[in-house]
Order: sequence, then C-alpha cells, then structure tokens
Amino acid sequence: MKTQMVAAMAGLVVLLASSTSQADQSIEQIYGVYCVQCHGLQRNGTGINVPALSVKPRDHTDAKSMGDTSDDELVKAITEGGLAVNKSVLMPTWGHVLSKDQINGLAKYLRQVCKCGK
Ligand code: HEC
Repeated sequence: MKTQMVAAMAGLVVLLASSTSQADQSIEQIYGVYCVQCHGLQRNGTGINVPALSVKPRDHTDAKSMGDTSDDELVKAITEGGLAVNKSVLMPTWGHVLSKDQINGLAKYLRQVCKCGK
C-alpha cells in the first residue's frame, strides 16, 4: 500500500515536471503537439482532422501563399485564431495556450518550413 502511494506520488511529480518544462520544448515539438493534427506531419495541410474540416488547413510548405502572408499576420492568426485575420474559425486560437515567445518562434519556424521570407 505504502509502495503504491509512493509510486503514485512519483508519477505526480513526473507529470508536474513535464508540464512546467513545456516552455523549454523546441518549437518543432510544439508544432508536433498542437498543429500536426490539422496541418499534417508533412506540414502541408494534410493532418488527420482534414476530412472533418470544411476549410482546408493552410499548406505551410507552400512558398507562394505563405510568402504572401506577413509575419504579423502569422503571429496574429496563431495568437487570435483564423477569424481575427478574416480566415476560417476552424483555425483555433492559441494565445491562451502558448507564450508570446513560443508563437513568435512558430512564425519564424513556419518561414523555414515554407522556405519563404517576408
Ligand atoms: C483544428 C485544426 C487546426 C489546428 C489544430 C491548427 N490549425 Fe492552423 N489552420 C487551420 C485551418 C482550417 C486554416 C485555414 C484557415 C483559412 O484558410 O480560412 C489554418 C490556417 C493557419 C495559418 C494561416 C493563417 C493565415 O493568415 O493565412 C497559420 C499560420 C496556421 N494555421 C498556423 C497554425 C499553428 C502554428 C498551429 C499550431 C499551434 C495551428 N495552425 C493549428 C486549422 C488548424
């Protein structure tokens, strides 16, 4: 019984530790956790949620359309969701989940993915 308690407590500590270290996750890992289900493992808008979405997620590898989108818009879309930039509400809001630094990091990361700058 006592051993079980100790094991349960240890599990809790691991859980707490992993949730506080989230800020240190690399940007790519953040994308892997929060974005791939829609934007896809290849980052090209082919995530497993796609059949359920009436608007296709952005293809982040598309240099043309991504190149036409400014950094400010990327940050705003990620922070406040699609609706804030006159896009689909199916693109969720991440401002309450991710820090400003993480969102700026994501916008920068997307520039690497699309191989396009702005
Ligand atoms: C529930 C599905 C879903 C998830 C999860 C999701 N997106 Fe999207 N995203 C979309 C859809 C759908 C669009 C296309 C909106 C449109 O074109 O109207 C989009 C569009 C975008 C755009 C383009 C915005 C613009 O102004 O053109 C960016 C950038 C983006 N997503 C980044 C992200 C990032 C970064 C994450 C993870 C933190 C993420 N998305 C998670 C569905 C999703």
